[in-house]
Amino acid sequence: MIAKMILHINSSGRYTDSITRHVSDLVVEHLKGDNVLQGVIKRDVAKGLPFVNEAWINANFMAPPERTEAQKMLLHFSDELVAELKASDYIVIASPIYNFSIPAALKAWIDLIARAGLTFRYTENGPVGLLENKKAIVVMASGGVSIGSEMDMASSYLKLVLGFIGIHDVTIIDASTIDCLGDDEKLHSVKSQISGLIELTGY
Ligand SMILES: Cc1cc2nc3c(=O)[nH]c(=O)nc-3n(C[C@H](O)[C@H](O)[C@H](O)COP(=O)(O)O)c2cc1C
Repeated sequence: MIAKMILHINSSGRYTDSITRHVSDLVVEHLKGDNVLQGVIKRDVAKGLPFVNEAWINANFMAPPERTEAQKMLLHFSDELVAELKASDYIVIASPIYNFSIPAALKAWIDLIARAGLTFRYTENGPVGLLENKKAIVVMASGGVSIGSEMDMASSYLKLVLGFIGIHDVTIIDASTIDCLGDDEKLHSVKSQISGLIELTGY
């Protein structure tokens, strides 16, 4: 059995009573199970991430051998986020719907990990994702917008951007429906929604 790594990203601004934090913890616990696991990397983007700015963009678009030390420093944190992503087999993303889309903090993370030459590359036939053999589980919650409906710009966007960097296996879990269940039912629902994933990877 091959040891697996999980990257667990939280983005809700809430810490008390956050549905996505709670249900994504259940997902991570279930993925861990009794299986061989290298570990879980936790990245709470709601604690604050820098936004890309002119200096960062110039550094990013400079050919790596030509980057100055200052530019390398500017990209250092983004390099770290990319390394976390590359090291992981499962990416569990907890994302509430904020104003029909994803929280700004999660978008800031995406801006920092979508890097030409690292997570995608340009080819004659258009961009190609560079992340292979990874599965994403997106745990979403909303206050009324139906997950997967036309008004939900979050799940379609996350699927698009994950596919762009090479992660095509994306499971969306509607945590709003799970959170109203009792504890046993909650776990059962999480298990049934991700059981196929675990079987597929030989866990
Ligand atoms: C700033 C903000 C914007 C929100 N926008 C929407 C929205 O557009 N549509 C919706 O259905 N719910 C919206 N909600 C409700 C949240 O999606 C809902 O409370 C969800 O449970 C939040 O996730 P959490 O429980 O993990 O914090 C919004 C909540 C906040 C705080």
